[in-house]
Amino acid sequence: MASIHSSSTQPKTDWLQAAGKWLSQALFNTDTAADYFDVLAESVDPLWSLSETRAKVIEVIQEAPGVVTLVLKPVARWTGFEAGQFVQLGIEINGSRMTRTFSLSSAPCLWKSQGIVSVTLKRIPEGKVTGWIHENIRTGQIVSLSSAQGEFTPPVNAKSIGYLAAGSGITPIMSHLREYVASIESGATEQTSMVPVTLVFYANREEDFIFSRDLSLFARQYDWFTLHLIATEEQGQISLSQLQKLLIDTPEQVYVCGPGGFRESAISLLQKVCPNATIHQEAFSLSPIAMGSSEDAQEHQMYLTKSNRQVVVSSQMNLLDQVEAAGLSPVSGCRMGICYTCKCQKKSGRVKNVLTGEISDAGEETIQLCVSVPVSDVELGL
Ligand code: FES
Repeated sequence: MASIHSSSTQPKTDWLQAAGKWLSQALFNTDTAADYFDVLAESVDPLWSLSETRAKVIEVIQEAPGVVTLVLKPVARWTGFEAGQFVQLGIEINGSRMTRTFSLSSAPCLWKSQGIVSVTLKRIPEGKVTGWIHENIRTGQIVSLSSAQGEFTPPVNAKSIGYLAAGSGITPIMSHLREYVASIESGATEQTSMVPVTLVFYANREEDFIFSRDLSLFARQYDWFTLHLIATEEQGQISLSQLQKLLIDTPEQVYVCGPGGFRESAISLLQKVCPNATIHQEAFSLSPIAMGSSEDAQEHQMYLTKSNRQVVVSSQMNLLDQVEAAGLSPVSGCRMGICYTCKCQKKSGRVKNVLTGEISDAGEETIQLCVSVPVSDVELGL
């Protein structure tokens, strides 16, 4: 049986943070003492901060329609990353700090040698942050960068590797490929010791393939790398016969990244094509079936205890979207259950976790707003 690994990260809770916040409010009228000193430090250098790690945008590259790469120079104390990991990028938009999760698309070697990293992001229709970045980001702007997280990292000692990517799901895979190439070019890895690597990459049309120039160059230059670009409008969606034909090396480790529906199809096909493979997947969006059908929609009351607000909410929308629609700006990152930045105290009421299908008890507990839908009236500590 194929074994399946999903990338996710558990949060750390720290009661000291709450005590520190109370003390800072009392002494400095800010959430942390670091916030107070940041205001002073920023006036000297906008990259200086005690409360967060910052980076300067040094280049903005248009990769494909609706896709840009931000090349960033983080401050030296940023802790680095492994190929395939993601970060939360924080940006100030109209006076509010917004964070979102993006995969790093550059090779860790580049960070080690030149102190540079890149994130590649696709504009999401109705997406506040990606839309703002596409229209407004400029070189010289300052963003915040979390430490890197995620387990979608290259295999150790695999005899052959397969990658299946759809759309912007190529970004963490590009980081793997760039790291392999950088390792060969630096002399750290012998060309002859590279195992076969096959990438099957799906996009709607020819012009939608992100990084197509670099990928084609790698395929021409390196015997160990085989590239298949599938434009689904002409060649059709992922299928069993296609994978049987393209994954001729029967990879031992397969990495799948793309939208929820794509991942589900890919994994069920891979279990037939290479039943002994270890499959790794990285989520880029929730599965379309996760929220249920609109016919099941029910309305409930949501009471926000700190802001003393009561609104009607739907059982078909996650609580993060509905809290934002109520006018609040809770901290969030990936918006699909990975990063835990949206965690919040539910005071009462029952919610369903759309990733696991689990329905909570009615009592007090911590929930992730982005993957929770209400199944009764709820009270949140916001
Ligand atoms: S925003 Fe990342 S888990 Fe909710």
